[in-house]
Amino acid sequence: MTQKVLFVCLGNICRSPAAEGVFRSLCPNVATDSAGTASYHVGDPPYGAMQQAIRGRGFDISDLRARQFRPVDFQTFDLIVAMDDNNLSNIEALRPKGNETPVRLFTDYAPQSGMDHVPDPYYTRDFEGCLDLIEAAAKGLRDSLGGDG
Ligand code: 4NP
Repeated sequence: MTQKVLFVCLGNICRSPAAEGVFRSLCPNVATDSAGTASYHVGDPPYGAMQQAIRGRGFDISDLRARQFRPVDFQTFDLIVAMDDNNLSNIEALRPKGNETPVRLFTDYAPQSGMDHVPDPYYTRDFEGCLDLIEAAAKGLRDSLGGDG
C-alpha cells in the first residue's frame, strides 16, 4: 500500500505544490509532500499566480513552502512522482545504491491527455491548462492506488 507520495518539479513553487494540493484533497489519508530538484526557491510559498489559479478551483496551497529534493527522500517515500523527464533524471542521479523506490512521471497517470510531461506554467503562463492536466493525473494516481486514500 502506498502511504507516502512525494511530488517533484524544478523549483517547487508551481507544478509540484499544485500537484500536492490537488492530490491531498483527493486522498486525505495518503501522506504527501513536494520538493524541487533545484534550490532557487527554498523556503518560498507557491508562486502567486499558481496560488490564485488553484484557489479558483477550490484548493488552498498557501501553507506549502519550497524545499529541495534530497537523497533521503528515497527512503522516506513509497512513491516519487516527477513532472518531467529532467526532474526524473535529476532524481535518479541521487538514488542511493540498492534503493528501489519507484519514480514515475505524473503524466503516466493521465494517458488520455496524450502528454509526456507537465509543462511549466512559470514559463508557459498557462496555469489553467497545467491545472487541467494535474487534476486528471491526480485522479489517475488516486485510482492506481486502489482507493486506499
Ligand atoms: P516549477 O516552476 O518547477 O513548476 O516550480 C519553476 C519555477 C521557478 C523556476 C523554475 C521552475 N525558476 O528557475 O525560478
